[in-house]
Amino acid sequence: MLLRIAATRRPAFRLATVLCVLGLILAGCSPEHYPQSGLRPLSDFAKIGDDIQMTTFWWALGVFILVEGALVYAIFRFRGKPGDVEPKQIHGNTTVEIIWTAIPALILAAIAVPTVKGIFATAATPHSEVLTVEIIGHQWWWEFRYPDLHITTANELHIPVGLTVATKMGTVDVIHSFWAPRFAGKRDVFPNRETRLWFKAKEPGEYSGQCAEFCGIQHGRMAFRIKAQTPEEFQAWVSHMQTLGAKPATTAGAPAAAPAGSVQTATAGATVKPSQGAQQGKPQQGAAQQNGAPRDSGATKIAPSDPAYAAGEKLFTAKGCVGCHSLNAFNAPTGMIGPNLANVGARTYIAAGTLKNTDENLARWIQNPQLIKQGVLMPNLGVKPDEARSLVAFLRAHQ
Ligand code: CUA
Repeated sequence: MLLRIAATRRPAFRLATVLCVLGLILAGCSPEHYPQSGLRPLSDFAKIGDDIQMTTFWWALGVFILVEGALVYAIFRFRGKPGDVEPKQIHGNTTVEIIWTAIPALILAAIAVPTVKGIFATAATPHSEVLTVEIIGHQWWWEFRYPDLHITTANELHIPVGLTVATKMGTVDVIHSFWAPRFAGKRDVFPNRETRLWFKAKEPGEYSGQCAEFCGIQHGRMAFRIKAQTPEEFQAWVSHMQTLGAKPATTAGAPAAAPAGSVQTATAGATVKPSQGAQQGKPQQGAAQQNGAPRDSGATKIAPSDPAYAAGEKLFTAKGCVGCHSLNAFNAPTGMIGPNLANVGARTYIAAGTLKNTDENLARWIQNPQLIKQGVLMPNLGVKPDEARSLVAFLRAHQ
């Protein structure tokens, strides 16, 4: 009896199983949970790859429907019955052989032409007005330098919408791979060899990217953010970063207008300011601060007059932090071992995407980086909890 029930329910059970499995597979397609998708391009570069991918997909779908349709039709239309004679054999039919060789060749040619065009387009050097960014891979974080703007930052790349970003990439140690899926394809970065990439962001927003070449045990924690901003917001960020010396500016000011001597770019109206004039390592009182990019670290802002700030400032030197990290965004020294910390207080993440940039996480990191990211070059410096709090107060003020 039980067996009979099981047998009658079997087709329904199978269907339910198939639907469940399909549901699970499709659940993996949610763009919200998997933001690093090359299938939703946000730049001209990514669009080239996506177009080729879609062209190939439609050709493949057409071939699939025709071939499977013919197969299914043949199975039912010419199904053998008992007593049928052997059907006529067509092996060696020259006409059929030519047709099914020529058709795939033509289809492959139709895919190859846009593919080759795409390869040349993505490998080309942009001729329009560009924003040059030098990208340097480190085990395990990213250094971003804007040579024309004399700005250096780490792990969070700010770019203006509508202006082509031309990258020049290298690494100080092993091979890494720069991959911002919504903007461009992967491109490896090598020691002693420059690789290049270009892309132009279409819309503002904050997007993630990561290293895509195994580069050591913390390869998985070598992420970065791209903050695509309107030209005005980007210009404000640039102006702000150019004020960042050894101490953060203390007074909030009006949003910065495009400074005198700035360059109006042809493509986007983004204004980029050549950086002559500002002095390295000197806080600029009254300079516009915090205009532009929203500060999303969620942390309390601490005034430099705070005693914890002063204690943190001393500890930054006493504990040797200063030996590896620069606090100057403007005209920062090259060859520093650790990430530039000039605006660390304003970043979304710390330790290259490893932790949200909260005071608590920053304190944990300062006290025991090896526990959080084993093998990282930053050693445990024996920082006590109260010292970590002071260092956090000092670093948090660096926005
Ligand atoms: Cu750098 Cu993987």
